[in-house]
Amino acid sequence: MKVIDPCTLVLFGASGNLSRIKLMPGLFRLDQAGRLPEKMAILSVGRGQVSREDWLKDIKGMLDAKFPKGYDQNVFNRFIERNHYHANPPEDANAFQRLKETLADEKVFPQNLAYFLSVRPSDFADVVDKLAAVGLTKEDKYWRRVVIEKPFGTDLASAKELQASISKHLKESQIYRIDHYLGKSALMNIMLQRFTNAVLDPIWNNQYIDHVQITNTEMLGVGERTQFYDATGALRDMIQSHILQTMALTAMEMPKELTPDAIRAEKIKVLEAIRPIPVNEIDQYAFRAQYAAGEIKGEKVPGYLEELGDNSSVVETYAALKLFIDNPRWKGVPFYIRTAKRLHEADTRISIRFKKAPLQIGDGQDQNWLMLGIQPRECIKLEIQSKIPGLDIKTRTIQLDAANRQDGDESIDAYEALLLNLMEGDNSLYLHINEVEAQWRLVDPVIETWAKNRKPVHQYPAGSTDPEASKVIFEHEDQFWRYSIELGGDEK
Ligand code: BG6
Repeated sequence: MKVIDPCTLVLFGASGNLSRIKLMPGLFRLDQAGRLPEKMAILSVGRGQVSREDWLKDIKGMLDAKFPKGYDQNVFNRFIERNHYHANPPEDANAFQRLKETLADEKVFPQNLAYFLSVRPSDFADVVDKLAAVGLTKEDKYWRRVVIEKPFGTDLASAKELQASISKHLKESQIYRIDHYLGKSALMNIMLQRFTNAVLDPIWNNQYIDHVQITNTEMLGVGERTQFYDATGALRDMIQSHILQTMALTAMEMPKELTPDAIRAEKIKVLEAIRPIPVNEIDQYAFRAQYAAGEIKGEKVPGYLEELGDNSSVVETYAALKLFIDNPRWKGVPFYIRTAKRLHEADTRISIRFKKAPLQIGDGQDQNWLMLGIQPRECIKLEIQSKIPGLDIKTRTIQLDAANRQDGDESIDAYEALLLNLMEGDNSLYLHINEVEAQWRLVDPVIETWAKNRKPVHQYPAGSTDPEASKVIFEHEDQFWRYSIELGGDEK
């Protein structure tokens, strides 16, 4: 366990959803696990005037909602003692000066400060400017760190602008850019499983691999977030961030050591080696669609345009891309990455299909698949051919299936890992600016082309499998979308 300096976590946007559902409960669980330093305070910053007493009651409500079976009263008392509230009304010109005065009380607030900006993305730069203006970002005797929630910009240009603005006040080592997928233990496991197993590393390349699929599908729709979603779309929301990070961990070279810098350096290299999608051939490399009305788990659900109340939207709820990595390991291997809302299954996984085996018995012998399950099931599955017992020479596909998670294992929310790393000063689970930029550089041309094309978007019924038309991006006719449930080429 790393030693954590006494510190204060300043939580902007503390009354918002993220804080209620993830951050406060996550901090509580870290406290329960004995991972918070004894001297650690949490200062919640919100727009409204709320007394400390009322705020503490509100926190209790958040914990009651998250842990309905109850929690340890001693831990609760300790946790509550750490918590404070500061009102920063937007109309108050002196708000940040007052924040500085509040934080100056060293008996209550340890002076190493981490600011978690769970605010509107358009406010990130402004909050950093204001913190800097009153001297709250300057590292002297104490460290100062700033967490920027996703999204970091809405395209390459705005990401660069945000970076230029905050880097006037902060060094790269002070900036913690969130991609919450990196906090998932299953994502870290991709790299570990690859490099700690002598049987996997030698076959992890274009000599053996036919193609790789990185998939994230959800059964949920856009819910209450229609306005946000319509300004964002699946490509920006999931692919630019979580899926490209998953791909980077799947494809990167082994880091020289398991340090934050070495890991990030390898991820950056591989992201920068992804070939840009040729703009004049976008239709063979990228596919988008929107969910129409359909059925999820036996219940009728409306389509995206209906939920939005605007038939003219061309924003995608399904996005699939074909990418190639121009390096010796991956030359010629397509990576098919896709994400969707309201598909038939909720599943995040990496599916790797191997090339044809040297011996083919009969027609249509399945190729080997290796699958790394991220969620809901953390697992590793390998499909291989095996003789069907009996007089004939025939094979069938069998599956070796192992759960990575076992009974009694700790179940840690991504935000707990991220918050802990933040306090430890370990930014390996956070994005470097070069990763963010490489990711925007890849998706921007597709987003721009799609936004310009106002023709109605392909529709798929909620609860269905991938739209047939999405197969246009496959390099070879024998390739198909791999699902998680059945053995072998279930799509054939
Ligand atoms: C968020 C996206 O970043 O990730 C959401 O904005 C998406 O649209 C969510 O549903 C998925 O996260 P998880 O951890 O539930 O897979």
